[in-house]
Amino acid sequence: MKLDQFRTLIVAIDTSTDMLACTAAWWIPEVFFDDTPSRACVEVLASRDHLCRRQANVELVETVQGVLADAGMRMEDVGGFLVGRGPGSFTGVRIGISTAKGLARGANVPLMGASTLDACAWTAWGAGTRGLLGVAADAMRGEVYPALYALDDVGAHRMFERERVVKAAVAVEEWAARSDASELQLTGDGLVRYGKLFEEAGLMGRALDPELWRPTGEGLLLAAADPEAYNRIESGDPALVLPIYTRLSDAEENERKRLGLAESVNTAVTGVAEELAGRHLQFRPMAAADAEPMAALEERVFADAGHEAWNASMFLSELFSDAAAARSWWVAHDNGELIGYAGGMVVDRDIEILNMAVAPEHRRAGIARKLLSHVSYDAQMLGCTSASLEVEDGNTAAIALYQSLGFTEVGRRRGYYGPGCDALVMQASLPLVLPVDPASPEPTAAVQREWPLPEPERTPEESAELKRRQLILAIESSCDETAVAIVDAEGNLLANQVSTQIDFHARFGGVVPEIASRKHVEVIVGVVDAALEEAATSLGLAGGAVAPAELAAVGVTYGPGLVGALVVGVAFAKGFAASAGLPLIAVNHLEGHLFANKLTTPDLEPPFIFTLVSGGHTMLVHVRAWGNYEVLGETLDDAVGEAFDKVAKALGLGYPGGPIISRLAEDGNPCAIDFPRALNSRGDYRFSLSGLKTAVTLYIEQETKAGRTINLPDLAASFEAAVFDVQYKKAKNALRETGAREYCIGGGVTANPHLRRMMIEKLGRQGIRVTVPPLKACTDNAAMIAVVAREKFLRGEFAPLDIDADPNLTL
Ligand code: KG4
Ligand code: ZN
Repeated sequence: MKLDQFRTLIVAIDTSTDMLACTAAWWIPEVFFDDTPSRACVEVLASRDHLCRRQANVELVETVQGVLADAGMRMEDVGGFLVGRGPGSFTGVRIGISTAKGLARGANVPLMGASTLDACAWTAWGAGTRGLLGVAADAMRGEVYPALYALDDVGAHRMFERERVVKAAVAVEEWAARSDASELQLTGDGLVRYGKLFEEAGLMGRALDPELWRPTGEGLLLAAADPEAYNRIESGDPALVLPIYTRLSDAEENERKRLGLAESVNTAVTGVAEELAGRHLQFRPMAAADAEPMAALEERVFADAGHEAWNASMFLSELFSDAAAARSWWVAHDNGELIGYAGGMVVDRDIEILNMAVAPEHRRAGIARKLLSHVSYDAQMLGCTSASLEVEDGNTAAIALYQSLGFTEVGRRRGYYGPGCDALVMQASLPLVLPVDPASPEPTAAVQREWPLPEPERTPEESAELKRRQLILAIESSCDETAVAIVDAEGNLLANQVSTQIDFHARFGGVVPEIASRKHVEVIVGVVDAALEEAATSLGLAGGAVAPAELAAVGVTYGPGLVGALVVGVAFAKGFAASAGLPLIAVNHLEGHLFANKLTTPDLEPPFIFTLVSGGHTMLVHVRAWGNYEVLGETLDDAVGEAFDKVAKALGLGYPGGPIISRLAEDGNPCAIDFPRALNSRGDYRFSLSGLKTAVTLYIEQETKAGRTINLPDLAASFEAAVFDVQYKKAKNALRETGAREYCIGGGVTANPHLRRMMIEKLGRQGIRVTVPPLKACTDNAAMIAVVAREKFLRGEFAPLDIDADPNLTL
């Protein structure tokens, strides 16, 4: 990392606990001739450490500015930033790291990271504590991050390697059992909540002054200056600084349990289990729509064996069998294609595996094992203690697989598979012996690059042109896409980057908020850099990328959306704007969907009627003037996109449902099934989709019970028709009532070709000018955020640096 040889002004921040730690200091590397790493000297200039509960995102950037002012310094003087990487409050850690990434990227200076637990220990060291020290940091939900240190005059030395999380009672027990327990001094904000437990074990006698229980900025600096520092990020590249997580998201931990994998122990630096997502492999319980592809796979696999294969209705009847015996059926999908299944029936306390198959081209990937582990896990939940199955004698591959899972031969059925062809009956007790996946590898995705980046060399003409263009960079992170776009003041779109996380959520059947937040933190610098490079290419500039200081403003979505996802974009944007000296523009995501229409029709002017149909919203709006929105009606329950997703899920078709259903509907008859149209009376602009969703589910159940196979295209087309008829009718009524002659639409569902065509043709016939956004700007993207940011920029509507994410923002 390139820091000044003599001294560098460093600003250290940590928001992993209730303490907003912020310190400016000189960082003076101690130079040794033999290159021995040694402790840098830290000379504190100013500190504004203060308690600040849940307000970190509001106060952090202004606190940094305040500390610099106290130190008599300016942002341009800062030579590097340092951030506490946790572990701590997930949101707190994310706010600190995202802000720090923004600050470092905007100023093009190095970003260092250090462990917040180390910072706690060094805070105590700085206050004169020596001897054995236990840090118990609050991990919420009854848990702490326990960490032991030996403090001597040299510094705080770790007595552990990896941060971990345990129940508070476990930490108490471990520490109380130590032979040196009587010397143990305690600190950490976990003592606030769980002090009583430590007290009961007689450990609180040597607790430090509560004033010292949280990390200070100076403590963080000392921790980073320690040549022994763990988890130190050496390159200075802000893209590489990530939170220290001690486990995966709850959704993934549960998945690991169900898959029979070992619990994660902070091997994944990012906290997202890539080894599962990377395979695009999804395991989920069988659904009605799987019956056909299961029968097709069965036919392929059993064709050669010469015995009878199950057909679709046999598979279906498993799903809806109301026989007393409980069933468990699981399927494996890869990129939407069914590649394996396994299922069984509970008899007494044994699960009889009835059928199992894996597509030949996907064998030897452990899929059969995982399918079996799902089924046997269910069986255990249903009270089973053993699993049994029959396998053809001589099928050595299958027998070997079952043996490796603990199955042994318990009987033989003569001639079961035809004359001279016996079946072996094998049995295993539960839980099955399941292999542990190799630990996920350290991520290699982020390329090592020189940091700081070289400042671009511009000719005077180029600089003048950049200035004239007034580039606005916009960031969108409200849900599961990290997106960055750049427009100029004339509205030319110069960059449009989207990093989607769909692969990481699809196997859970919807967006998992905790995964979304983690992925945003992981990719935000990369996506911003890609946009800055794309803009340079669009402008024909040499030198790789547009520099932050060459921009005119930064826009960011601040709501509505998932709060943990929004804060990443907002915190990054604020840090970036503050350090690059740019004004900040706060954008409403819903306005973004509206303004996406300007990409198609730049002269779009109110008054007009606007329909918003996305995964989270369904609204009919009378846009009287820009910024003057009369919401005529909203959904009372599900949003339209949500209904698509839920219906697709009920059919076992995957996530997101919109594109899957609209593709199926291409070949379907929209009049085939008469689904209800809710709140369809004149003058009522409210929507309701839950009744329709229920009607679809009921239909699936009825048809399957009756043994009929569902015509998916007809179902999809009829469902779409029920949704879109209502949308059309209400839009038409609103146009008539308001007298508006112009109509536009936005949100992810607008990507649906049938909806687009219907509005354009039917409303067009009535003389209404209809605009639909470009296909790429329908689902979440930053181009639409940039369009709004540009309008606000031209009006001089800037946001203060204490703005926070607002998950419930409306139009
Ligand atoms: O606007 P968006 O990307 O995210 C939100 O702000 O909610 O919308 C996502 C929604 C998802 O529910 C998805 O299923 C739906 O848009 N969607 C579609 C289509 N493509 C995406 N719905 C119907 N037909 C499509 N082709
Ligand atoms: Zn959206």
